[in-house]
Amino acid sequence: MLKLHTEMIEPFIGPEDFKTAMGSALNAYDTLLSGKGPGGNMTGWLDLPVNTPERLIKDCRRIASRWQGTLDVVVVIGIGGSFLGAKCALEAFSHSFASAGERNSPHIVYAGYSLSEDYMSDLLGYLKKKSYGLIVISKSGTTLEPALAFRILRMDMLKRFGAEDTRRRIVTVTDESNGALRAMSEKYGYTSLSVPSNVGGRYSVLTAVGLLPIAVAGFDIESFLGGAREARENIMRRDENNPALVYASLRNLMYSVGKKIEVFVNYHPKLKYLGEWLKQLFAESEGKQLKGLFPATLDFTTDLHSVGQYIQDGERTMFETSILAGSKEVEVFVPKSTDNLDGLDYLVGKTLEDINYMAEKGTRIAHTSGNVPNIYIEMEKIDEWNMGQLFYFFEFSCAISAYMLGVNPFDQPAVDVYKNNLYRLLGRPGYTE
Ligand code: PA5
Repeated sequence: MLKLHTEMIEPFIGPEDFKTAMGSALNAYDTLLSGKGPGGNMTGWLDLPVNTPERLIKDCRRIASRWQGTLDVVVVIGIGGSFLGAKCALEAFSHSFASAGERNSPHIVYAGYSLSEDYMSDLLGYLKKKSYGLIVISKSGTTLEPALAFRILRMDMLKRFGAEDTRRRIVTVTDESNGALRAMSEKYGYTSLSVPSNVGGRYSVLTAVGLLPIAVAGFDIESFLGGAREARENIMRRDENNPALVYASLRNLMYSVGKKIEVFVNYHPKLKYLGEWLKQLFAESEGKQLKGLFPATLDFTTDLHSVGQYIQDGERTMFETSILAGSKEVEVFVPKSTDNLDGLDYLVGKTLEDINYMAEKGTRIAHTSGNVPNIYIEMEKIDEWNMGQLFYFFEFSCAISAYMLGVNPFDQPAVDVYKNNLYRLLGRPGYTE
């Protein structure tokens, strides 16, 4: 089970203030669970780990086994909530040096999360001699970046593989009944999975949006859902020790005393995209009505040799939430050398994990003394079960936090400002004024 550690932040908080914040967290809990708060019709994600249809798991497995051993590459097309959950999970689960052909599963690459011409041209070049498939994810089915990537890759496929084979190489994940992607799936007969209408993009990693890419990459979706289920059991209780309510209270207290930036920290390259997923979850859920903590991410110990200077000694406007993870069952020991010219003999016999742990500890102490309060969350290791827990924990905490702040956690009205300008500049019919 995940462990939330608050001892490094407690010196910064008065007990009375915490009591008040917890009162507000409990109110937010009631609002969330009643489904009567703003966006209350978008809380379907709360029950996903216990309500996942058996059919969905079977479909994911069936598509995975159809493609494993037959396709070299699967391109996952999507952006925002239709991209970051799967990307984060697959970065976490995959071997750091895995590449095409090393496992029975296809190599997963991504498209539709930017408009970069260089990237698309490199991708087309990379796919040239590969047998590839597409998972196209867009809940609305109308988002420009993934729609464009899909058009380009679909045309490439049609040229190379012909209509019938192309049909077998495409799976879509979209709204049950609306949008261009649903219409195309019906017209061309693509296998298609649905995103429930009461689950928004950034809360959708436990739907087909996350489950299908994870299954196709050869990882265990049942364990992933099992971890989320365990987190749900632990979090779905209205008491003051509920770790999600404690975390939401603490981050709101930090905000109220001027710590307006929350820095999410990891100590493992495999968790880099966890930071990206968290950034989206919190920024898009909370950054509204001129309010909200600004989520930033840092990868330690890498960034301790760059941004570390600022954290220790720059403006005092931030607090840290570190995600710590143990290693898998493998150990890498510091070996003895013949001459000790590098002066590292004092570490002989220690594992890299021992040393990483001390780096974490040393950093937490340093930053706390530099007036950067620290929360840290410990998970046993980076695997499907633990990541399932982490996703659910943060989704729940984020929804509570947003309600505490007085905003709707589930909409993103400001994103349309960019979209409408882009459409107008591109001359999309209906957007020319
Ligand atoms: O969280 C959200 O709702 C957004 O980030 C969406 O996921 C993102 O804009 C992609 O939308 P769609 O899946 O409709 O293409």
